[in-house]
Amino acid sequence: MDKIVVLDFGSQYSHLICRRIREFSVYAELVPYNITYEELQKHNPKGIIFSGGPSSVYNQDAPIPESKIFDMNLPLLGICYGHQLIVDKFGGKVKRANKEYGSSLLTIDDNEKLLSGIGESIRAWMSHGDEAESIPNRFKIIGHTESAKAAAIASEDKAIFGIQFHPEVVHTEYGTKILENFVLNVCNAKQDWTMEGFIDSTVEKISKIEGNVLCGVSGGIDSTVAALLIHRAIGDRLKCVFVNNGLLRLDEEREIETMFKDNFKVNFTTIDASQKFLEKLSGIDDPEKKRMIVGEEFIHVFSQFAKENGPFKWLAQGTLYPDVIESGVSKGPASVIKSHHNVGGLPDWLELDILEPLRELYKDEVRKIAKILGVPERLFMRHPFPGPGLAVRIIGEITPNKLSIAKIASKIVEDELIEADWYKKVWQAYASVGEDKAVGVVGDERKYGNIVMVRIVDSIDAMTADWTRLPHELLEKISNRITNEIEEVTWVTYAISSKPPATIEPQ
Ligand code: XMP
Repeated sequence: MDKIVVLDFGSQYSHLICRRIREFSVYAELVPYNITYEELQKHNPKGIIFSGGPSSVYNQDAPIPESKIFDMNLPLLGICYGHQLIVDKFGGKVKRANKEYGSSLLTIDDNEKLLSGIGESIRAWMSHGDEAESIPNRFKIIGHTESAKAAAIASEDKAIFGIQFHPEVVHTEYGTKILENFVLNVCNAKQDWTMEGFIDSTVEKISKIEGNVLCGVSGGIDSTVAALLIHRAIGDRLKCVFVNNGLLRLDEEREIETMFKDNFKVNFTTIDASQKFLEKLSGIDDPEKKRMIVGEEFIHVFSQFAKENGPFKWLAQGTLYPDVIESGVSKGPASVIKSHHNVGGLPDWLELDILEPLRELYKDEVRKIAKILGVPERLFMRHPFPGPGLAVRIIGEITPNKLSIAKIASKIVEDELIEADWYKKVWQAYASVGEDKAVGVVGDERKYGNIVMVRIVDSIDAMTADWTRLPHELLEKISNRITNEIEEVTWVTYAISSKPPATIEPQ
């Protein structure tokens, strides 16, 4: 398979470069900027991209790749900091400039190769504090903005390009086209990265392993897709376990079991540990204690299952590519299989090797595979749900009454958003319940009932979030349904704190 290697200089957009390239079916991988020349050669790349980054090339501690990498005679594209590195390395000069952040008009001076097919000017996304004052010999300017005269440059002799703007962000018009020009036309990379191909090659790799595989499934898309791929490869040598902790969304346990057992015919066990979890959580209102109890109890139930149903040689996990990179455990995702013990607090005696079929993939790629494998859309479009479930959505002690309110009210929120075509537009949406009560009137009677808090947020990565400006009519409908359909509830509030200072979950 043809591959583009992206050297990561620390830009928040580095992963996006890979994702954009993969979107047009070429495999791209992110590696640390200080990868050795020998290691990089082993990747056998068709081209190299230097990402952006927060540093300045003239700083003493600036991240600089091994010098032989510049002379590999491979197509090279530098983006932002990467552009400045190329300018500096080949003899131009980079200087501090006025910070330019946001959209600028890029005028195309030369529409051959890199900037072909994008017209005479585009809006391009800038985020930099340095710029090229002079460009290296035998380089030419192929695009400029009002403030940066060398916003895009190209070598006259080699396939080397530098661009000050970020083609990987959606705010750059024709950004993907520019990446395509580089990857397809300059590097001549083949578009052979497809999810169908990935499924075939992964199933083939996994079918060669020996021994039984244990997979804990949560109903989330990652563990589901990992399990289904392994199931294709080794059938009943895979055993899936689903632990019902009593903190799930309404009917979730039944939906998950039906999907795995009836639709996919997977060797699947549900352990109903809800009573045990809820007993352990009884009287606890501290959020971190709740998390700890849920985590410990899960390990306990899971290990017990492994002991009674083993031996297992493998533990399957739905680890994704960004986790692999961030954990720093591996320099690349190349292998599906990792030898590793005692993961996530599981006891040593389990001695399991780790099988991670998704460790090369981004989330959107996992969604595509889910679709190909026939996973119901409802599951792969569902919002993220915290591991400790309703334990962190119920404020204060968890009681059967609060659990029931949170489940039914959240279902109403989800159903109404789906009905009004808002569900896919928001990041997370749920209803929470706490200790507070308020007076209402039902018929002629005063009633002292629960307050339900509806929380619906927009976010890109859960690091920050903003409350969703939902139409008032929709909020009204949600509120009416909650108070009408849940007897104990008298008031509904809408949480309008953003993150920060609030968080997405109330506990
Ligand atoms: P907060 O509440 O910190 O949540 O703004 C950010 C994102 O993380 C999810 N979340 C969790 N996920 N275990 C999880 O697996 C947890 O303990 C946990 N707490 C919060 C939350 O749903 C949101 O997507």
